[in-house]
This record gives sequence, C-alpha cells and structure tokens, in this order.
Amino acid sequence: MCGIIAYVGDQPAQPIILSGLRALEYRGYDSAGFVVRENGQWRRWRASGPVAALAAKMNGASIRSGCGLGHTRWATHGAPTEVNAHPHAGGQDEVMLVHNGIVENFSRLKKKLAMVGTVFVSETDTEVLAHLIALCYAGDLVSAVAEAMSRTEGPLGIAVMHRARPDEIVVARRGSPMLLGLTDRGRLAASDAAAFAGWTDQVIYLADNEIARLTADSHQVFDARSARVDKVVTTISPAETAAELNGFPHFMRKEIYEQAETAASAWRGRLDPVTGAVKLGGLLDCQERLKNCSELIIAACGTSYYAGLYGQYLLSESAGLDARAEIASEFRYCQRSYPAAAALLAISQSGETADTLAAVRLAQAQGLLSLGLVNVAGSTLARETAAGVYNHAGPEIGVASTKIFLSQLAIFNLLALFWRQLHGRDRAEDLAWAQALVGLPDKIRQVLALDNRIAAIAERFCHYPNWLFLGRHFNYPVALEGALKLKEVSYIHAEGYAAGEMKHGPIALVSPEVPTVAIAPADRLRAKMIGNIMEVKSRRGPVIAIITAGDEEIKELADEAIEIPPTLDWLYPLLAVIPGQLLAYHAACLLGRNVDRPRNLAKSVTVE
Ligand code: F6R
Repeated sequence: MCGIIAYVGDQPAQPIILSGLRALEYRGYDSAGFVVRENGQWRRWRASGPVAALAAKMNGASIRSGCGLGHTRWATHGAPTEVNAHPHAGGQDEVMLVHNGIVENFSRLKKKLAMVGTVFVSETDTEVLAHLIALCYAGDLVSAVAEAMSRTEGPLGIAVMHRARPDEIVVARRGSPMLLGLTDRGRLAASDAAAFAGWTDQVIYLADNEIARLTADSHQVFDARSARVDKVVTTISPAETAAELNGFPHFMRKEIYEQAETAASAWRGRLDPVTGAVKLGGLLDCQERLKNCSELIIAACGTSYYAGLYGQYLLSESAGLDARAEIASEFRYCQRSYPAAAALLAISQSGETADTLAAVRLAQAQGLLSLGLVNVAGSTLARETAAGVYNHAGPEIGVASTKIFLSQLAIFNLLALFWRQLHGRDRAEDLAWAQALVGLPDKIRQVLALDNRIAAIAERFCHYPNWLFLGRHFNYPVALEGALKLKEVSYIHAEGYAAGEMKHGPIALVSPEVPTVAIAPADRLRAKMIGNIMEVKSRRGPVIAIITAGDEEIKELADEAIEIPPTLDWLYPLLAVIPGQLLAYHAACLLGRNVDRPRNLAKSVTVE
C-alpha cells in the first residue's frame, strides 16, 4: 500500500517521478505528492485524489532539479486530504519524507515530540517519523534514519531527503518493499519494479532493515548495524514492468482476456502433455521434505485465500494430502503448535501482503517448511520462503484480481499432480488430467466469447442492490470470488455462499429483487444445485445459472443461463469464474465506477 518513487541523477526528476507514480498508482490513489530541492528551496506539490490531479497541479511548473521524491497514498492515519498527503516535512523543514507502512507507536512518539515543542500539521503517523529523523540528524542522513527506525515500531518503506544534502536520497525498508534501480544517468528507488518501466531493468532488492544512500552516480547499502553490504544486481524482464493497456479500456478487462494465456503459462515447461509428468523446479530442493509432509497449511488473504480453499479441496481429495486453507490474518494470531513435518504454503499475487508474510514468519519460527505461490518475482514472499512456484502471469495491474486467481487454481492442479507423482500414484489418471489441462485455454476462450451475452445480463440486473452467489464444493470458492468481485468493482452488495448453507439463513434474503448466481455445471453435485435453484425460484428470486453447455433442464429453470464448455469436475472453477468476473466488470462500467481503482482499495496490502 502506498507507492514510493525517488530519483537522483542528471535528468530532470519530474517526468521520471510522475511516470513512476502512474505505474504505482494501483498501490493507493487517495492522494499524491512530489518534492524536489531546487535553488536552496523545497518545491513541493500535493493533491488529494489520483496522480492525474497532482500532475494537473504541477502543469506548467518548470522544474529542473534531478533529485526528488514522489508518493501515491492509501490512507491509514488521517483522511485523504492534501495536508495529509506525502511528502511530509520534519523538523524546521530540514527533512522531506515519503513513507509506506505504519508507525505503530506513533501516538507515544507524537506525545514525546510535542513535549519538546514539535508542531504537527497533519493527522498522519508519517509526520512523526519525519520529525524523528530531523531530530536524529547530526550530519549523516543514513545514521539519522537508522536511529529513527530503531525508535519506531511497525513496517516501513521510506525515502528521505535532507536540505543539507540536496543531491542525496536515503531509502530504507523494514517489512514494506523497496528496491533500487540503476541507470547510467542516476539512481532510482521504488516500492515496486513497475515504477522503473522505461528507465531501467537493473535492480537491487533491499532486504529488511537495510538502508541505502543514493547519489547520481553511486549507491551504498548498509545493514542494521551500519555495515556495508554488497548487493546483487538483478536484471528484470520487461514482462515484470509492462503495464500497457494494449487497446483495452481497462486493465481489469485486459487481464480477464489474458486468462487463456495465463493458464497456458502456468504449466508451460512444467507439465509434459505426453506423459502427464510434472516438474516444478522451485520445489526440487525440498522434494524429500514434501514427500514426508504430514499436513499442509495454505495461508492467504482475499482472492488468494479463495484460491487456497480450492487448493484445500483439490490436494486433499486427489493427492491425499491433509491440506487446510487459513485466512492469513486469523492464522497469524492462532496460538497453536504444528508438527515439524507440517508445511505452510503462502499464496499471494503481490508477495507483499503483510498478513500473509506474518503467517510465513510464524510457520518458520516453528521450524515448518515454508513455500510460496507468488506472482511477483523478487517480492518479499518469494525471497523469504524456502521454496515455491511462480505464477508467471505477468503483472496484474487492475486492483481486483482476476487472472491471478485463475492462475492460482491452475497451479494447484500442477501441485496436485506433483504430489501424486511424488507418491507414485496412478499415471494413467494423471495423463487424462494433464490432457484436460492442456485443452483448457481453448475452453477459456470459448467462455470469453460469451462476453456480449454476459454484458446483457449485467445490464438487466446491475440496478439490483443485493446479489447472492451459490456454489458447492470446488465451485464454492468460485461463488465467494464472484461475490467479492461484484462488491469490489461495482459496489453492489453480494454474498457468496456454499449452496448447502442456503437453508441455514441466507434463503431469508431471496426475493424478486435479489438475483442469485448459481454455479451449476454438470459435475457430481449438479442435482444438488438444481435443488438450490428450485428453492430460489419458488421464492420468485431471479436466477443466473452458470451451466455446462446444452444443459436444457437448468436452462429452463433459470432466468438467464451462461453456458460453459464441459470439462473435468475440478476444472470447472477455471471456466466458471470468468462469467462472474465479466458480470462484475460490466456492472461496474454500467454504474460508472472506476473499474481499475475501486474506492478504498489498494493492490498491495502491506499493512495489517
Ligand atoms: C481481490 C483482491 C484481494 C487480494 C488480497 C491478497 O480482488 O485482489 O482480495 O487477493 O488482498 O493479495 P495478494 O494476493 O497480493 O496477497
């Protein structure tokens, strides 16, 4: 949450920082700010609202300075007003600071600072940190940052300038991501490599508690004890920073449309379609431990958690593994000890979700094997887990996750096959499974071709304020995900339920004003879903049924039917999720919502 970009070099900082802020805007878009030091003065612009509002405010300003900081905010402490926007000044304006994270002991520090005469102008925790750095400064900004960090609690990624050192930027991380970008014409720092697109592919990932000093032609990294650290420079692929709409009106739509390719990339080079064999290079080193794994805890948040729930069903049923999905924010406070042979699999698109990282650290503290299923290469989760699997799905920019959910489901299929093969299970069955996977991208394309039909259904129902999504077993996580998507981007209230739970409460909501999306493909629970559809219909609730093509019986019962191609029972979710994504997308567009940047949300939830 919150995006940071900093640049020091021989080019004007403004275009570099603004382009970085646009790329980082998915991390927060409540307000944005920019500062440079020029002719002995700070020049600072801040605006409430998106980066475009900041850019409009700066329009026409002639800024030549090649050293500055930028920030796009997701508000935690204080409303998204201009005065609460970063950069924040510290001391008597000696310091300018941008911050991603939370100063958890800010109220205690604020009281102490107020006692020595500090006047606060904002409601933010960040301002406390800015004043603290100013107070700790005695000629060396790195030491001041280290000292201030030692007095604060909570995750942080920061970039700081001091007026006595106008050509130097100091950045640091503890919990929140921060990486450096190296170019011939200066140094960059940002919370995400996306901010470097078009400027550099040479990056250095800072580890926790590292602090870096950047000048136009140098960078030095220090550890928590102020010792110099030699860092490896990594070349990132263009795919890791690409964020182009390529003619699509929104990233969400583009990413929904990428899903056939997303599925194919999940198993490319990993699944042999001729033998059904699965090779997962990222798990090679821990195969023995995986073979003896007694229990798998799957920890994640939001959409990634729903994928984990699917993984729980799939791994326990097909691979005989004792798997259990846990909401990471709950799991991290669960005071339970686990057997040494248990493992934890953390799932995260961003690899930066604070609660998911906390779950990993908790498991590691108990000596468990920690695994990651993550999309962003080089993210904290990717680096902190002992082993894992990448999604290889390219950047997901739309704040509402779409293609990564599908990719996570795809990878659970690989994991299930992998585990089966580790235990010498029946290869003939695996072969049929592998072939069904390989045929899936074509079926995904067939579902995407229903877009116009789904748009018409969205138009018919988008003014209904409450929806229900029902599914059973493998499609229960799809019902949860469908409801979450609709809520997130259209702000329509929706509930996802295990269809069997209907009678235990939610059926009270059914009425002609509440559409129910029933995920009812021709799997082994189809007849049960028909029962649920009948219950809704007999209470005059409108039903939008997601069914297997040609299912005339359900088609007749439902008000609207979306027909997806036939596949294996456990692969239906990879098709059935798409109509829900498109319904949410079209409803949001019809209602005039900001599809890619829904209110109150951020892509990367780096605070608890
Ligand atoms: C919903 C959504 C969120 C994320 C959640 C976890 O569309 O995107 O629910 O799934 O914040 O994020 P990651 O996967 O980055 O850990």
